[in-house]
Amino acid sequence: MKFSKRMNLFQESVFTKLNEMKLKKLEQGENVIDLSIGTPNVPPAEHIMDALSYAVADRTNYVYAIKDQSKLTYAVSKWYEERYQVHIDPDKQVCSLHGSQEGFANLAMTIVDEGDLVLVPDPCYPVFADGPLLAGATLYYMPLKKENNYVIQFQDIPEDVAKKAKLMIVSYPNNPTTAIAPDSFYTDLIAFAKKYDIIVLHDNAYSELVFDGKKGKSFLSFEGAMEVGVEFNSLSKTYALAGARIGFCIGNEQIITNLKKLKSNFDYGMFLPLQEAAMKAILGDQTCVKTTRLSYEKRRDALCDGLSSIGWKINKPDATMFVWASIPSGFHSSEEFVFELLDKAGVLMTPGSAFGAHGEGYVRIALVQDKEVIEQAVEQIKKSRILLKNS
Ligand SMILES: Cc1ncc(COP(=O)(O)O)c(C=O)c1O
Repeated sequence: MKFSKRMNLFQESVFTKLNEMKLKKLEQGENVIDLSIGTPNVPPAEHIMDALSYAVADRTNYVYAIKDQSKLTYAVSKWYEERYQVHIDPDKQVCSLHGSQEGFANLAMTIVDEGDLVLVPDPCYPVFADGPLLAGATLYYMPLKKENNYVIQFQDIPEDVAKKAKLMIVSYPNNPTTAIAPDSFYTDLIAFAKKYDIIVLHDNAYSELVFDGKKGKSFLSFEGAMEVGVEFNSLSKTYALAGARIGFCIGNEQIITNLKKLKSNFDYGMFLPLQEAAMKAILGDQTCVKTTRLSYEKRRDALCDGLSSIGWKINKPDATMFVWASIPSGFHSSEEFVFELLDKAGVLMTPGSAFGAHGEGYVRIALVQDKEVIEQAVEQIKKSRILLKNS
């Protein structure tokens, strides 16, 4: 059999290796606390599940949706108006996605030709790079550095790179670094995109997981954003609907029109009961969003306070469902630390290098277990004495 050269772009991820190690430990009857992949364990709110169950029981809902119902795109426009004070045309500026992941691949297909230059952050959520790569892009990595609070530095992008770039992917609150960007970042981003005629894709998956009373914003709420780009917003984390695969691409009309056109050729739209659940989620009672945020905030405190108390000093993140921490001293790489941690303490984290070269030296810890389990993880790390390696 002969497969496409495209497949050479992808290798088995470190997640596969970590999962194998985890399964081996479990088979040996050992306990593993998994803080690696960002799958929320918070259940969706009752009223959302009720809307989904009701719609699933309706026999007429099993036809091809073909496209988004007008009531869905209207609901999205109302959500954006109320939550972010952003005005959009529901007929022209919204396209549903089977989760943002799908959107990254398909949006890139509409913009990128073979060899086109795409700017992506390093470290980044892997599909930011994989989507454009599938479309044939050449990538230029914009480093996210601690000394810059993990904010992209536009002045560091060489002029010839900026001139050649066609698409730029950015995302704050950021996975994996957990950083949020100041307002000035967005005004600079829009000016940069206009100057060099670059399309911007802002991923806003974590705008509702911003802690300590701060509030996440939309890229589209900044003047000029609608002229240069789009925003992805996902119901996966905000409404704990990760498995339902519901996301939206919102913003620039031309970009949305092309995305809809491409998708209409191979995609028969979102299952109608999921459209009902999405509407219920974004227009219904928002108490569940606050409850989810508070539960991640409590987990964050338990983890950071706990690890700091046993000698691994970690700053509390302002946002997301992750903690981004420098690896303890005595280890040469984030993978080495993660493998040894799993082996000795039975706690699984993601090596920062899985997110790009600038992720080396860090680990990402996902707050995907209950507070009590996180406290147990801290206890197991303490008992393993792994933090004393260098002393
Ligand atoms: C940065 C980022 N974007 C988007 C998503 C959500 O993706 P999806 O809507 O495909 O579930 C995640 C989930 O982990 C993420 O970390």
